[in-house]
Amino acid sequence: METRFWRIDARPQGTQFADAITLAQKTLPELADGEIRIRNAMLSMDAGTRMWLTDREDGYQPPLTVGSPMTGLVLGEVIASRAPGFSEGDIVRAFGQWADISQVDAAMAGAIVLDPTVQDRRAWFGPLGMNGWTALWGIEETGAAKAGETVLVSAAAGATGLLAVQIASLLGSQAWGIAGGDDKCRYLVDGIGCAGAINYKADNLGEQLDAAGGFDVYFDNVGGPILDHVLTRMNHYGRIAVCGLVSDYTSGSRTAPREYDQVLMRRLRVEGFFSPDFMHQGERLTQRLRGWVEAGDLTMPYDVTQGLENTLNAYAKLFTGGNIGKVIVEL
Ligand SMILES: NC(=O)c1ccc[n+]([C@@H]2O[C@H](COP(=O)([O-])OP(=O)(O)OC[C@H]3O[C@@H](n4cnc5c(N)ncnc54)[C@H](OP(=O)(O)O)[C@@H]3O)[C@@H](O)[C@H]2O)c1
Repeated sequence: METRFWRIDARPQGTQFADAITLAQKTLPELADGEIRIRNAMLSMDAGTRMWLTDREDGYQPPLTVGSPMTGLVLGEVIASRAPGFSEGDIVRAFGQWADISQVDAAMAGAIVLDPTVQDRRAWFGPLGMNGWTALWGIEETGAAKAGETVLVSAAAGATGLLAVQIASLLGSQAWGIAGGDDKCRYLVDGIGCAGAINYKADNLGEQLDAAGGFDVYFDNVGGPILDHVLTRMNHYGRIAVCGLVSDYTSGSRTAPREYDQVLMRRLRVEGFFSPDFMHQGERLTQRLRGWVEAGDLTMPYDVTQGLENTLNAYAKLFTGGNIGKVIVEL
């Protein structure tokens, strides 16, 4: 069986993905024991995967090798299986390939059979997926947000951030979001119900942050210079939940906060967290998130691109701010 797939031919520079990742064709090998073949219906675009495209060996995951297919979360139908628990016709989510067809070891790929009663299958990439788990964990566990506290979230109009601000509100906190541009900020306040939104692209970032009157929790997706502005506006005994550092991913810079001494001055706790560490609790987290989704309390706009051949355009949005909500490619 033949498949088209995106092959990593070189390490991309910045957002020049087309110079480094090529749509290629191959014949799939025979299915080995434990493997499944998935006809991909959707690909999830996730900013964290940008780190796998660098040659850094000190990340939380080793880099993908040049010459290999690009990897990411996929959703689709099992069309062949030699793995126990997976049958033809099952709808599954797994770490597969950016391809028409993913062939994976079901266990290694974290494949799970999805409940077909969920009406909008895109939710398995949004509130019921890795972004939902991450947002819930970061707000409730790492950030330890309490009712009445003020929670600030960066990249708040993106997939993870939108869920984080909504979950903070659901848990009784006052949620503020940081996003790039007035339209995204309007959406956060008028569409999502944030207490306030801060446009980091305006030249008065500090003044906008001051208006919130201090933060107890900072759910940080971005790092970089914004973190310095926030460090000087944290309340004493505040918590910084380090979810991601998207400002570093395409620039090649490394966040090195100038205002680091505020961790001591304000007695802050700074802690990173990583969703595979709590994947074993996925079922419990999903049930909680599903309750909010079904009650209409947790929403997600989707930014959908059609066609495998257009994947790189969809991917670039994560690093240029072209998206509101979850970026998905439909095949
Ligand atoms: N720790 C974990 O387990 C885990 C799991 C999932 C995701 N994450 C992290 O969550 C973050 C969001 O990922 P996502 O996949 O949900 O993507 P996303 O938020 O849907 O998209 C990324 C957003 O980041 C913003 N951004 C890009 N470059 C920026 C910069 N230089 N400065 C400020 N904002 C910038 C853009 O919005 P603007 O228009 O606002 O700039 C863009 O829309 C990433 O840092 C990712 O690594 C972590």
